[in-house]
Amino acid sequence: MQPFPADQIQLPRNMIENSMFEEEPDVVDLAKEPCLHPLEPDEVEYEPRSSRLLVRGLGEHEMDDDEEDYESSAKLLGMSFMNRSSSLRNNMSVYRQSSNGSCSLPSTRTMVVCTVILVITVALIMVIYLLPKCTFTKEGCHKRNHTIELIYPLATNGKLFPWAKVRLPSDVVPLHYDLVLQPNLTTLKFSGSVKIVVNIIHVTWKIVLHSSGLNITKATITSAGGHQEKLAEFLEYPLHDQIAVMAPEALLVGQNYTVNIAYSSKLSDTYYGFYKISYKDENLKQRWFAATQFEPVAARSAFPCFDEPAFKATFLIKIKRDEKLSTMSNMPKKATTPVTNGIVQDEFFVSLKMSTYLVAFVVADLKNISRETNESLVSVYAIPQHLNQVEYALNTSVKLLEFYQNYFLINYPLEKLDLVAIPDLQSGAMENWGLITFRESALLLDSHTSSARDKKSVTAVIAHELAHQWFGNLVTMEWWNDLWLNEGFATFMEYFAMEEIFPELHSDEDFLNLIFKAMMKDSLNSSHPVSSAVQSSEQIEEMFDALSYIKITNGTLDVKKLMKTWIVQKGFPLVTVVRKGKIISVKQEKYLYLVEPENWTSDASYLWHIPLTYITSSCNFTYCTNAYLLDQKSAIIELPEEVEWIKFNVDMNGYYIVHYGEDWKTLIDLLKKKHTALSPKDRANLINNIFNLAGLGKESLEKAFELIDYLNKESSTAPLTQALFQLSLIYNLLEKKGEQQLASRLMHRIERLLGDKIDQQSWTDDGALSQRELRSMLLAFACTHDIRNCRTTATEMFEKWVNSNGTISLPSDVMKAVFTAGAKSSDGWDFLLKMYSSSVSEAEKSKMIEALASTDDVRKLIWLMQNSLEGEVIRTQELSHIIATVSQSLPGYLLAWDFVKENWEKLTQKFHLGSYTIQNIISWSTSQFATKAHLMEVKSFFESKSEQSSQLHSVKEAIETIQFNIQWMERNLAMLQELL
Ligand code: BES
Ligand code: ZN
Repeated sequence: MQPFPADQIQLPRNMIENSMFEEEPDVVDLAKEPCLHPLEPDEVEYEPRSSRLLVRGLGEHEMDDDEEDYESSAKLLGMSFMNRSSSLRNNMSVYRQSSNGSCSLPSTRTMVVCTVILVITVALIMVIYLLPKCTFTKEGCHKRNHTIELIYPLATNGKLFPWAKVRLPSDVVPLHYDLVLQPNLTTLKFSGSVKIVVNIIHVTWKIVLHSSGLNITKATITSAGGHQEKLAEFLEYPLHDQIAVMAPEALLVGQNYTVNIAYSSKLSDTYYGFYKISYKDENLKQRWFAATQFEPVAARSAFPCFDEPAFKATFLIKIKRDEKLSTMSNMPKKATTPVTNGIVQDEFFVSLKMSTYLVAFVVADLKNISRETNESLVSVYAIPQHLNQVEYALNTSVKLLEFYQNYFLINYPLEKLDLVAIPDLQSGAMENWGLITFRESALLLDSHTSSARDKKSVTAVIAHELAHQWFGNLVTMEWWNDLWLNEGFATFMEYFAMEEIFPELHSDEDFLNLIFKAMMKDSLNSSHPVSSAVQSSEQIEEMFDALSYIKITNGTLDVKKLMKTWIVQKGFPLVTVVRKGKIISVKQEKYLYLVEPENWTSDASYLWHIPLTYITSSCNFTYCTNAYLLDQKSAIIELPEEVEWIKFNVDMNGYYIVHYGEDWKTLIDLLKKKHTALSPKDRANLINNIFNLAGLGKESLEKAFELIDYLNKESSTAPLTQALFQLSLIYNLLEKKGEQQLASRLMHRIERLLGDKIDQQSWTDDGALSQRELRSMLLAFACTHDIRNCRTTATEMFEKWVNSNGTISLPSDVMKAVFTAGAKSSDGWDFLLKMYSSSVSEAEKSKMIEALASTDDVRKLIWLMQNSLEGEVIRTQELSHIIATVSQSLPGYLLAWDFVKENWEKLTQKFHLGSYTIQNIISWSTSQFATKAHLMEVKSFFESKSEQSSQLHSVKEAIETIQFNIQWMERNLAMLQELL
């Protein structure tokens, strides 16, 4: 990934001012329109209705000086991107062909520019292309008046509920919340009161807002000038998580009113909302912890609020707590005052304007270390026994915060930033403004037990969540359909920052794997466009999938045309290349695993604007990269001279797969003769593409195996990882299909290719990070499949460790291989479980849990899954990882599916339907099926559940994956018999 060019070109100031804050007209929501018609090259409008990045909340109201500062900060963000990106326009020539059709060789700088184009693209879109058409017109933008006849639903008390839509009305907007909460960590309940200052945009008698599972006892309304607090009737409509506070008199346009609501509820026993966590302290005594996870739509279960990202407001939070505990929230603490015996109240400073999903608070007994940087105090918090593992996180956060501030040219706007290790968290981390919460394993680094991989992932998670403090928190997508604006940017910045500050971590290789994974998902029919229409909370939760995080992170210059093709169309293109002398014909089509006859016409009409890149034998260095914008179904590229070989998608900077037809042979020969003529990323890309094409039936598996024949000379991590990944997929399917003989022949082939490499690995933590990662991967693979004497060495090390009662330290990079071998014996497994319960290192525990879940003893597997669901011995946050490991093994894969079926209600209750965890559980527990019987079984199971379950994207994906597996076997089994 390349840095943005530093050139700064000033933009007209009004561009940003106009763009960001104008009211928007009703325009067609492209995301809602399935792309079933051809995208003509000149059909260029990309104007999703709600894709603007928001800086302020809805509606117009007066700003005070502070607000204005924040607003202009956010403008600056747009500005700094515009400045950086405008300079790129001058480089448009990169994609221009010379008159004879060939591409001139661009300069290094120009190519640097090419490779970052997508980022620029997105940035441009944020600032220019999402403007409503009317922005620059004299009339400006006005909302059209629609008279819609609505059928009102019934509230819980039998009266008509005065609002029928899932989205809140926009006639009332919140300006400020005063929130007082009193959680009780003994009764595990909480009471609260919220005062919301609202502004009236259109005259109304009702204030509709969100509330979920709250027992509301009283609601009042006070007008701004008036001193009279009037009791208000309130109606509840739980299906939409809404309440309506009915005003005793009309609420007048432009006026402010205060709604005051008193309520109580239980601390949630899911991972969502204001939830409780139990953990053991240093003396193994059970303790309680309360924390929040509001994104995307759970703030409403902690306090009544306008729970949509566009309704930004300021927050003043007060928490009453036991004097022995401590609290944290987004803002620094202002004061602590006594309330009653043993209870005190913490009051936090008023926040910036922010969306409800970013509000957070934690009540617990934590310790921290802190450091001041650029006028902000950065602190890392953990439970006391983990305090010795927080130093790396503090150093890394400070470095990253400084980097982002310099890069965005906007200071981090709060006086403090807390990073908190939470003992039980469903996701990896959550970017709450000023109070980022992390899973312990995503924040803590233990010098003895954390591997090279662990260090990389802790760095990546911090880099990602810190990027959100700008992308997401300061500027926010208006609605969840454009979640990719939040997550896509944070993901891009995560990798970009890591390459800049921690080049030794080689995060570009992980980025490559991330793209490979996203493509697997995106190649299914059940995939969705990056920007999709979503309404229900399940749909909103489902937006958090790989595609919102990854797709579009590369692109080209004709932004407006290009973006439409990548954001509104699902899937990605397959580019077929045919070379005849100097003439290269390229054509594009939709890449699809399964072509459904009913989709033939629509699939054929897909068209992307693809910034092709290529290198040739005449000059294969990065600076020789050529570029060509393929914006038609097919095109001809004429090279200046005939070449021996040509390789497209240089370093896999583009989101497409290439089929070389006859030319695969040339590339296979090249790898055999001189594989270093191509970069490691290009080699990984070729391996990935040919195996994908073989799966599709477009290329033979024989060629794919021929291509990897060079692997015994390979020493780079990226191509080895990709080859092992592809071969493991095939091995796993063969094994589950009952083709054991064939599977073991495949394993011999793998040994022939990688055996020497495995033998060369030392059982230490020595070497560069990339080598260490490769070692972990190769040895864990070898020990899992019992090849190359891996288990003998690992078992010896395990026994020494057992004999020392776990006191000698094992090299962290090979720890997983050692534990996996050790857990094969019953005694070893029991010992490992005992050590798991007492270990204080999350890094060590996660390696232990994976090893425990890889036993062949089915009773132990069932025990593990059940206990993780209960959450006492093994935390429920580990369950999806356990299911993932169990479902890969031959003894476990049917058990995992049975477990999911039997516990479906409990699982969806705990993790929420549509959540990333449920998506993973569905995907893992069904991914190994390759028979029609299993296909029927999975289909009928989900059909027997609620409609919401059977309609989940992840269910459709699972069904398609099984169909693909069946097809794969039908296509390739006979060939494999011959080949192996
Ligand atoms: N905003 C997300 C956390 C989130 C995910 C909240 C899904 C609600 C639903 C956060 O920024 C995130 O992306 N976390 C990732 C880790 C990151 C390094 C990719 C996660 O939790 O896996
Ligand atoms: Zn994120």
